[in-house]
Amino acid sequence: MDIEKMISKEEIEERIINLSYELNEYYKNEEVVIICILKGALIFTADLVRHLKMPLSIEFLKASSYRDKTYSDGIVEVKSDIKQSLNGKNILVIDDIIDTGYTLEKVINILKQDNPKSIKLCTLFNKQERREVSISADFYGFDIPNEFIIGYGLDYDEKYRNLPYIGKVKQIKK
Ligand code: IMP
Ligand code: MG
Repeated sequence: MDIEKMISKEEIEERIINLSYELNEYYKNEEVVIICILKGALIFTADLVRHLKMPLSIEFLKASSYRDKTYSDGIVEVKSDIKQSLNGKNILVIDDIIDTGYTLEKVINILKQDNPKSIKLCTLFNKQERREVSISADFYGFDIPNEFIIGYGLDYDEKYRNLPYIGKVKQIKK
């Protein structure tokens, strides 16, 4: 597959440190439950939490939406492994990218049922042009154009999550 480098490992690292300053400032010393959306947010979450200073715990939700590799059909399946009650807690949902918005809309609707104190969204990438529902990330790393990206947790057909940089796929057979 033809991959063009788009964002370097160093640029990602630098942006994550800046995002952590924003989050440390926002939450001060309030306790937070981090909810990492698998699988895409695995690497971003692991790198981000190491710069966070507030008391926190980490939980996982698994969301799947990309049934034909690059396009979402708007149907999102969410599986939860969360045992603790989220009632009255500050929740910070972390995902790799907000694209159409269907995934995070569904995740938020599920989490709201537990009556948390607050829910905020943090994504590494924002693909604004593709948004189909009215939802936005409260904190995000980079605005990206309407292109399919891979690496740093993001996959194409389950591959390339291990790339330390962000690449753009030049050609995808449709
Ligand atoms: P949404 O529901 O359309 O916002 O899509 C969210 C999910 O789609 C993300 O968590 C990613 O797993 C996946 N996704 C969206 N855009 C891309 C991309 O450019 N590359 C890889 N995965 C993507
Ligand atoms: Mg994915």
